[in-house]
Amino acid sequence: MTTNTKRVGRVYMETFGCQMNVLDSQLVQGQLRALGYEFVTDWRSADVVLYNTCSVRERAEQKVYSRVGELGIHKRTRPDVVLGVLGCMAEREGVGVLKRYPQIDLLCGPGELDKVPMLIDNAVKTRISNGSSKKARDTDGRAALQGNTHRRSSTLQAAEDQLELLDLSRSFSPEDHSGSAYVRITRGCNKFCTYCVVPRTRGAEIHRPPDHIVDECKRLVESGVVEITLLGQTVNHYHYDHGASVVVGGVRQPQVGATVGAAGPRVTGSRVTTFADLLARIHEEVQGLLRLRFVTSFPRDFGDDILKTIADHPRICRYLHLPVQSGSDRMLQLMNRGYTVGQYEELLGRARSYLPDVQIASDLICGFPTEAEEDHQATCDLLRRCGFKNCFVFKYSPRPGTAAFDRMTDDVPDETKRRRNNELLAIQSGVSAQVHQGYVGQTVRVFVESISHKAAKARDAGNGVSVYLGWERPVTQLTGRTDGDLIVLFDGDESLIGSIVDVSVERSAPLTLFGRLAQQPAGV
Ligand code: 5AD
Ligand code: SF4
Repeated sequence: MTTNTKRVGRVYMETFGCQMNVLDSQLVQGQLRALGYEFVTDWRSADVVLYNTCSVRERAEQKVYSRVGELGIHKRTRPDVVLGVLGCMAEREGVGVLKRYPQIDLLCGPGELDKVPMLIDNAVKTRISNGSSKKARDTDGRAALQGNTHRRSSTLQAAEDQLELLDLSRSFSPEDHSGSAYVRITRGCNKFCTYCVVPRTRGAEIHRPPDHIVDECKRLVESGVVEITLLGQTVNHYHYDHGASVVVGGVRQPQVGATVGAAGPRVTGSRVTTFADLLARIHEEVQGLLRLRFVTSFPRDFGDDILKTIADHPRICRYLHLPVQSGSDRMLQLMNRGYTVGQYEELLGRARSYLPDVQIASDLICGFPTEAEEDHQATCDLLRRCGFKNCFVFKYSPRPGTAAFDRMTDDVPDETKRRRNNELLAIQSGVSAQVHQGYVGQTVRVFVESISHKAAKARDAGNGVSVYLGWERPVTQLTGRTDGDLIVLFDGDESLIGSIVDVSVERSAPLTLFGRLAQQPAGV
């Protein structure tokens, strides 16, 4: 339930973690803006400070605690400031954190984000009725957590899903995107990998109705978006059974996902929209969309139907993020990943035969409990064979509430984890360099995202790198991505941000292509 009261207040919001969190923050921001809140970039000038947090690794949580500590000091002179902790860490920690950190005024899990305005209102009202220095320390009214309400249980189909309304009420204002936007298709996760906290913090996997997704894409494109990234923890398991769909209060409801078996997506007697169907529908029905991307895919049950759909639809990007996690079957089994190294490589082979120009990225965890040198070597060998364009490598971080935390000892010394991490990064760096080198001399299509990091830093330092090269306007260094998600740096006019351009690649580094605009104005 939200409030209709118009509020004037300055909000600072910081987001940690994955793309799903970035989208969550955008939705919360849209909701608060509609209520009259204004967003600021300096937390010291804010009346409300919100941290949207990540729980996947301990380090992410430590960063948030250091911010919370800083805010505790700030609130000694500004006790009126409302501090909110949102997202996975709020859900994982639960209300105990309110007792340990009394400076936190509100706690909201990722399944309850529609309640943020109400929680801010409660925090303000509590302060008014108690006096700012004697704020009630009980936890009532300060927390909205999935664990409290069990709203997203298996009875979800019969319940009104407020969170769907949050996605549906997103802002379509051109000021809120620069040509690219995320659209959620699935929430939560059912896979229960033994190291992962996500099924606990985000709850059971549920799939949004395809009509909502397609409408959202259409409206984004009407507002100027040219690139959409579909989001889910396991997008390829998307499955919406129209025969079982339910409407509550005029809103078609998301569906609880059932486990997809080894035989592939479930198909019941009624009409079903699979992930392949969804991709094809968006491609066909949202004509103005120039690029359709999706993350993250799960390496099990990735059917040929999806690969064929990508091959048949030129505006779907040739890019897969397929986290493998380990090159050792023994580790994969302990991680409860549900596939073997052989099955993973078979999928890579299939993907490359349908999509010869596909780029694949992956994730690895090193130092999972009992990981021996031979397991690590198997992962090194896998990296040498796979030709990933890049791979994120994480040191295993035991997370309370996961099966690995409860049942396994974190027995790989940190020193060994660090060494294995560095060895994997060094191997991947060589592989990435080769992948990128293969593009030198070619022309690639680039979606222009922003000015480059280097250009932004130089500008902030007061010595902008813009140079006048006979263009009508000054040029600066821009950054963008190819269809296969390779990063490209080139000089160009800032007005190109949000559009797609051709860039001739002149040189490469392990993770970057450097080039120049293919059609440059005469005289340059
Ligand atoms: N420790 C280390 N890495 C983890 N990941 C998820 N949980 C953990 C953990 N407990 C990594 C996985 C996943 C990515 C998002 O984060 O590689 O794909
Ligand atoms: Fe976590 Fe595994 Fe689900 Fe990914 S698939 S979110 S790693 S439980």
